[in-house]
Amino acid sequence: MKIKKIACIGAGYVGGPTMSVIAQKNPNIQVTVVDLNQARIDAWNDNNLDNLPVYEPGLDAVVAEARGRNLFFSTDVNKAIDEADMIFISVNTPTKTYGKGKGQAADLKYIELCARQIASVAKSDKIVVEKSTLPVRTAEALKSILKNTGNGVNFHILSNPEFLAEGTAISDLHNPDRVLIGGEDTEAIDALVDIYEAWVPKERILTTNLWSSELAKLVANAFLAQRVSSINAISELCEVTGANVDEVARAIGRDSRIGSKFLKASVGFGGSCFQKDILNLVYIARSYNLKEVADYWEQVIILNDHQKSRFAEKIIQTMYNTVNGKKIAFLGWAFKKDTNDTRESAAIYVADHLLEEEANVVVYDPKVSAEQIYRDLDYLGTRTSGENRRLVTVVNNPYDALKEAHAAAVLTEWDEFREYDWVEIKRGMKKPAFVFDGRNVLDGNQLEKLGFDFKSIGR
Ligand code: NAD
Ligand code: UGA
Repeated sequence: MKIKKIACIGAGYVGGPTMSVIAQKNPNIQVTVVDLNQARIDAWNDNNLDNLPVYEPGLDAVVAEARGRNLFFSTDVNKAIDEADMIFISVNTPTKTYGKGKGQAADLKYIELCARQIASVAKSDKIVVEKSTLPVRTAEALKSILKNTGNGVNFHILSNPEFLAEGTAISDLHNPDRVLIGGEDTEAIDALVDIYEAWVPKERILTTNLWSSELAKLVANAFLAQRVSSINAISELCEVTGANVDEVARAIGRDSRIGSKFLKASVGFGGSCFQKDILNLVYIARSYNLKEVADYWEQVIILNDHQKSRFAEKIIQTMYNTVNGKKIAFLGWAFKKDTNDTRESAAIYVADHLLEEEANVVVYDPKVSAEQIYRDLDYLGTRTSGENRRLVTVVNNPYDALKEAHAAAVLTEWDEFREYDWVEIKRGMKKPAFVFDGRNVLDGNQLEKLGFDFKSIGR
């Protein structure tokens, strides 16, 4: 089975970059990425590559190479489905906000809509690939929807979860630790293996059954998030014992069984997936009556929430137990560096906590727009959008944010924060000048020498 045309439903942070790389590496396959969101598709088609809807280092070059050659972005979902031999589903699978499983289960309405649309449009056999992160056994529901169309078309379902991290998406896609493909039909599996083999060494392409593949994706995210919560739990212990969490991380990371990655203490993990996927894992475990398993994984989220509010509380306590009317400059709003994505960013929750205390928060982030920042705060529903605009200012220049500020708080580990002229910043700030480094990226010794009152995580 040789694939000639691919469709991908969902042109978001996963669909856009993954399909761009598949198209780049398979110039003989036509790849069409479709989305309902016209503005997003227009941005993917923008001649100015600075306007792509996703900011990822290296993405512009990949799009420039493949777009218009064999990579297309469109809102014509039906046409793309009709023409494709293989259809990736890469739509969002957020946590349910209503009904059974509210706050924990994954909301599969977008997935089901895709399946129904494929079922109604398809006139020839298709391979349908789950690219979105899904609860284990979702393929069963997809199969059932697709099988009952009655128009004689055969569908093969594969699970091919995505492991890229934002900010490093292009290098992760170009050089993945592994590609995972779950399925039942060997011909369909081979067809997808073929596409990845255009650039991924064969030994890194793992094939499993459908359920292992679906579950492995949730488990990978749970293990990664668990490491962050584990080191963050230790950061609190370090603060009361005089140990230094970076030194502890370095010491344990040298043990090859533990490994040194993902041991960076922080204000708490964010991003669209860690929390959502663990909540989903917890929900699945509970639905099978596995109470201890569910409680174990839920603790990763509880600790992360604690870390975010602990950081906000530390700011308040250090500033003499009141931040009312005080200007606090936020350096960073994105959930990590090198992305414009703010979903579940710790900055949102820390800001919300401080705004409850009537602080004036001034935000600078090199890649996040003011509209996005207000949208994130409004979405919480803690106060009116008018109040959010009264208390929060967004600026395009970090020095404007820090001028006359009582405190600076680092919420994202953008490299540029290290390069600032902290002597000039100190001169312009109110005294005592506080710096709260929620990412342990600044040189604390240097800042203390300059006269800052410096606080970081786990030291
Ligand atoms: P996203 O919200 O950025 O993009 C999803 C897109 O799907 C949106 O543009 C939306 O308009 C579109 N869409 C929804 N329903 C549609 C429909 N019926 N027809 C056409 N378009 C539709 O989401 P994302 O970050 O790309 O995540 C997608 C999936 O990939 C999720 O399941 C997520 O868990 C998983 N994932 C995400 C990442 C990541 O880094 N963001 C990494 C690995 C896996
Ligand atoms: C994560 C996984 O790393 C990807 O493999 C996965 O595909 C993706 O989720 C997904 O399914 O969406 P991502 O959320 O983009 O990727 O970014 P990470 O690098 O994992 O960072 C997540 C959060 O943890 C960030 O807020 C980051 O700052 C924080 N983090 C990470 C730490 O606080 N300390 C660390 O040591 C590592």
